[in-house]
Amino acid sequence: MLRSCHLLFICFSFLATITKAQIDQFKGSKNYEGPSNLVDLQYHMGPILTSPIDLYIIWYGNWNPNHQSTIRDFIYSLSSSSSVSPSVFDWWQTIRLYTDQTGSNITKSISLSQEFIDSRYSHGKFLTRLSIQSVIKNSIQTLHKPLPLNYRTGLYLVLTSSDVQVQDFCREVCGFHYFTFPSIVGGTLPYAWVGNSGTQCPGFCAYPFAWPKYSGMPTGNKNIMGAPNGDPGTEGMISVIAHELAEVSTDPFISGWYAGNDPSFPNEIADLCVGVYGTGAGGGFVGQVYKDKKGNAYNLNGVKGRRFLVQWVWDPVKKSCFGPNAIH
Ligand SMILES: *[C@@H]1O[C@H](CO)[C@@H](O)[C@H](O)[C@H]1NC(C)=O
Repeated sequence: MLRSCHLLFICFSFLATITKAQIDQFKGSKNYEGPSNLVDLQYHMGPILTSPIDLYIIWYGNWNPNHQSTIRDFIYSLSSSSSVSPSVFDWWQTIRLYTDQTGSNITKSISLSQEFIDSRYSHGKFLTRLSIQSVIKNSIQTLHKPLPLNYRTGLYLVLTSSDVQVQDFCREVCGFHYFTFPSIVGGTLPYAWVGNSGTQCPGFCAYPFAWPKYSGMPTGNKNIMGAPNGDPGTEGMISVIAHELAEVSTDPFISGWYAGNDPSFPNEIADLCVGVYGTGAGGGFVGQVYKDKKGNAYNLNGVKGRRFLVQWVWDPVKKSCFGPNAIH
């Protein structure tokens, strides 16, 4: 497996990612929808995100305003208790079950505090994992409306448009989270990156809105399930954004909640449930989800009547994957 180690402690190529192995795993028969004591999820005594989160989005590349609105509405839905159940807000309550050494829970509040538009591709159309940190640095050091360097409550989300290639994107990962190095960005900030797979690999990163390449099924419009807001690339991103937000909150510095003994390959709370969207998931079946009038699939409601399809996460109390659309 591809893996790069620099200096003493930076072995990050597989850190905190949705990997191809995980996706292959859910296409096989193994999943943790039922309770399992085999999963040794543990708290490693480090900080987790218990203070209200100030989220900063960096839009890298060329973005369609409609797709940006869909993503913003998903972010707003996380802390909006007024959406119809089962909601994105309800889904976040499972993540709130995680606590730190002091017994503080993950925050209930995620505000979209500021956005930075990097429409000129400040670091080109091919980004390495490390150059994503330079993209963040640029957004903080730019002269025109820079993002703040917010150590206390900041969380930085880099979203790349469908024409941007990122190291390992589509081959091994759909998104990842990590923390910035002071030598590059000037501080240790938790961040996540998620790519738009719409043209590069929808069958891999926007599954189940597109058929996997090796399925022998046509790619393009003949999708397995329709995307509820009309764009497979963007809506594939939303489940990956949800995955990374769940993990960066519970394991921002790879010293929080994860299973397994190797911090270079942590199995975090969303990794354990990749491909699980509803009751009965497994073997390539996403589980029981809803269909809207057009036959598009969703499992959660959000603000403004929006609907989203978002993977489940590990519930530390039930000791199983869980989402609020579970059928009892
Ligand atoms: C905080 O976490 C504990 C332990 O999982 C849980 O019992 C409690 O309900 C959580 N509180 C909130 C507000 O979610």
